[in-house]
Amino acid sequence: MAIERTFSIIKPDAVAKNVIGEIVSRFEKNGLRVVASKLLHLSQEQAEGFYAVHKERPFFNDLVKFMISGPIVAQVLEGENAVLKNRELMGATNPKDAAPGTIRADFAESIDENAVHGSDAQETAKEEIAYFFTADEIHSRTR
Ligand code: PPS
Repeated sequence: MAIERTFSIIKPDAVAKNVIGEIVSRFEKNGLRVVASKLLHLSQEQAEGFYAVHKERPFFNDLVKFMISGPIVAQVLEGENAVLKNRELMGATNPKDAAPGTIRADFAESIDENAVHGSDAQETAKEEIAYFFTADEIHSRTR
C-alpha cells in the first residue's frame, strides 16, 4: 500500500488540556509518523483562510473565534492510508457520536470544540499541508 500524507491540527481545547503528547502517541502507535510539526497561534486571517470552504456555514464565525483562542499544533502525518487512518483515530466530528477510544470521544467536549482536525481526502491534505508548511519543513523518511 502506498505511503500517504495527511494534515492534522491539535486544536486549542486539546492544547489547553495538555494532551498534545497523548494525541501524538495515538498517531505513533497506529502507524502514523510526524514528519512536520509546529506550535502556533493562528491570526484571524489565517483561520478564515484555512476554513474558507465553510464561510457560508452558520458556525463559521464561532469556529474561527475558537481556532484563534489559543495555540494549536499543526502537523503532517505520514503512513499507509494516512488520511483514512487519521480520520478513524479522530472519530466523528461530534464527540457525542464518536466511537469509544477515539481521540474525540476521549478528549473533546462538543462539536464546537472537538480537539482535532484531519484532512478528509488526499487532495485536501495536499492543499492543507501547503497552507502551513514549505517543502523544506517536511522531514519525510521517504526523501
Ligand atoms: S460537515 O457538517 O460534514 O461539513 O462537517 P465537517 O466538514 O465534518 O466539519 C466542518 C468543520 O467545522 C467544525 N465545526 C462544526 N461543524 C458542524 N457543526 C458545528 N456546530 C461546528 N462547529 C465547528 C468541525 O469541527 C469541522 O472542523 P474541522 O477542523 O474541519 O474538523
